[in-house]
Formats: sequence, C-alpha cells, structure tokens
Amino acid sequence: MKVAFIGGTGFYEAHFLKDPREVIVSTHYGEVKTLQGKHGDKEIVFITRHGKGHAVPPHLVNYRANIACLKRLGVKAILASAAVGSLNMDMEPGHLVILDQFLDFTKGRPSTFFDGGKMPVVHTDMSYPYCDFLRETLFKAGKSLNLPIHPSGTYVCTEGPRFESAAEIKMFRSLGAHVVGMTGVPEVVLAREAGICYSSVALVTNYAAGISPTLLTHEEVVEMMKINSQNFIKLLLKTVEMLPEEWQCSCEKRPEAELILRD
Ligand code: HPA
Repeated sequence: MKVAFIGGTGFYEAHFLKDPREVIVSTHYGEVKTLQGKHGDKEIVFITRHGKGHAVPPHLVNYRANIACLKRLGVKAILASAAVGSLNMDMEPGHLVILDQFLDFTKGRPSTFFDGGKMPVVHTDMSYPYCDFLRETLFKAGKSLNLPIHPSGTYVCTEGPRFESAAEIKMFRSLGAHVVGMTGVPEVVLAREAGICYSSVALVTNYAAGISPTLLTHEEVVEMMKINSQNFIKLLLKTVEMLPEEWQCSCEKRPEAELILRD
C-alpha cells in the first residue's frame, strides 16, 4: 500500500525513509519531484508543497500536478502537513489539529480537474472533505505518542501570500473557523476528485492577526515548524504503522477520477 506525505512549510526533507530514491513524475499539469522510499511494509511518496528551499508561494503551488502525480503513482492515502495560525485560545502554538472542515477564501487558483474542454462536468460532493478513517487513525496515533492534538477543527484557507488583517480574522472567527492557513484548498478538493483518501494535520505556529500580541512574520512560522518537526514526523510514521491495507470510509470514489490520468 502506498501512502503520501505532503510536506508544508518547514517540512522539506524525509531522512526517515528507507531506500530513498528521487523520481520525477510527469503529469498533464506538469512535472513533480518526488522522494520515494519505505517505512515498514508501506511504500511512502514524499513531496514538498513549496519545493526545495520554499521557493513557491501558496497561491502558485501546482496543486493539480501534485495530486495528479500521487494518483498516477497509485497512492491510497495522503497525510498532509500544514502550518496554521490559531483563531482560538484552546489551540495553542505547538498544538496539532486534525482538520475536519474547511472554508474556502482563495481567489484565483485552478481548483478542479474538471475544468471543461475534454473533461466532463463533475460536481463532487464535499460535505465531509477529509477522510474520517485517516483522521481517526491520526488522532489515535497522536494520543498514543502523548502529543497535544485536537481531533477536529475548521480550517479557513486564504489566498495569501500576505497574512490576514485583524478584521478578516474576526470575521473568520464569527464564521466558525478555528485555524487559518494558505494551502489547504484546493489540495483537499483535488484529492477527493481524484478518489484518494486525504487528511491534513495542522501545526499551530502562531495566534492569528489581531489575536497575537505581536506582528506576524514568515520566519516565526518556519521556526515554530522546525521546533515541532520531530513531533510531526513521529505522528506521521506512527499513523502509517497503524494503517491497515484496506478500510471502509465515505470518501466517494467516482469513475471520472480515472480521467485525471490522461497524458
Ligand atoms: N495566517 C495564514 N497562514 C498561516 C498563518 C497565519 O496566521 N500561520 C501559519 N500559516
């Protein structure tokens, strides 16, 4: 069984993989650099969302190429990582949050595989965007490792690359968001369109704008991710160890998903 890790801010290396090899995968949407190796009996595919050295900003990440690449490689489950600001005093810097819902405030990103032309019109159900089985397994793994982990949270995705204004954060809070980031959408949507189980673990790196007593910097986000990266890796590896070969979940797998494999 193949599992993919998508590394976000501060998660650029995968030294923990056995027999690692770099493989470039080409897709209809562009080429993707992957690192492929093993953990126990599972095959792991690692990709960095922002590229080496964090060269690609959130609004320019080639989300479609990344997910099409994982589809092409036959990945069954994606465990993604995300750096987030917290809108909620219970979710403190250093805590992990397993996302269960999102609010989409992105603006101009290609956010579907079914964008006309030769592709059919497809309206994908998004009631419960994240795989419940992966979420449960992540939570059990986090608890068994004694990590400060929350079982659920609503993620609001902003366009970036700027941080939010204090008024925007106030609005997002009133809409029910718990954490804010810039990369979770359309990644989760594309994974569902592709019929791949997807989960995302957010690491709180800061309190969001207007809640934090200080102004926000990208450096503090990266620093916080670095400090907590070992916890992250431990959580992902433990989750992989706990995953069975097969499971029941409500992630809808539609036949149109296979069209994503076009050249
Ligand atoms: N806002 C948006 N994205 C983020 C934040 C934030 O406060 N922290 C980490 N990623």
